Amino acid sequence: MKVTPFSPNCGAVVSDLQLATMNDAQLEQLRDAFTEHGLLFFRDQQLPPEEHLRFANRFGKIVVNKFFKTTEESPLIAEVRKEKTQQTNIGGGWHTDHSYDDIPALGSILVARILPETGGNTQFANLAAAYDALPNTLKTRLEGLRAVHSNTHLYGENGLYRFTDLKDQLGGMDRVGDATHPVVITHPQSGRKVLYVNPGHTIQFEGWEFDKSRELLDELYAHVAQPQFTCSFNWQPGSVTFWDNRCTWHQADNDYQGQMRLMHRITLQGSELEAA
Ligand code: SIN
Repeated sequence: MKVTPFSPNCGAVVSDLQLATMNDAQLEQLRDAFTEHGLLFFRDQQLPPEEHLRFANRFGKIVVNKFFKTTEESPLIAEVRKEKTQQTNIGGGWHTDHSYDDIPALGSILVARILPETGGNTQFANLAAAYDALPNTLKTRLEGLRAVHSNTHLYGENGLYRFTDLKDQLGGMDRVGDATHPVVITHPQSGRKVLYVNPGHTIQFEGWEFDKSRELLDELYAHVAQPQFTCSFNWQPGSVTFWDNRCTWHQADNDYQGQMRLMHRITLQGSELEAA
């Protein structure tokens, strides 16, 4: 198995490995690569739904998304679907999966099923590298802060998605809720300090006025979205991506109107997040 950085601060490509047939020693090597990079890309995989599930179960415990439709093949696999006729895509803005849960997701394994001819890349950002590069004064300001993460503004009765052409494929309107997490966490495996806020779900700092929160959050979001912390993955048939939700953001490009894109996503259960 070979692990090659994808870009200086963002992800790594794993080659010479089939996820469906790897042995236990390779799985342990993969865990180490996942801890080191937080974002792994695979090409030319043979990973039908049953093997997708098997890989996920070997790596961790599956947690089901509250809002997405699941696949015909399994209630444990979420569908990220955009039909030819739909305008809006799922996950089109920077976010981290499940940060609105008290126990946020460890990671997500995304498998390409139907791809547009061009476009439909997924972009990623590295939140550990972004934290390291913050000025010391800002790091000090963030110490001890907690932030509120929510899904109500997206999936609730008046949430943004309810006013789009995705509304019929999303459920869980009655399962919305918030959680609070430290703004800077210690990553449970790597021990690195990570900036744990994201534009999709973090709505404000706990105990702060909304406008003051917005100002600082926007500053942090602009910092993370800089090219030196981000990368863009170009999907091909057989591509798989496995990202760590505790130390990355992602967003899906919506630049393939009139074409279909279908991805299968399995999300893995994480643990409570500790302040750095
Ligand atoms: C997601 O937000 O999990 C979906 C990403 C993608 O479709 O590329």
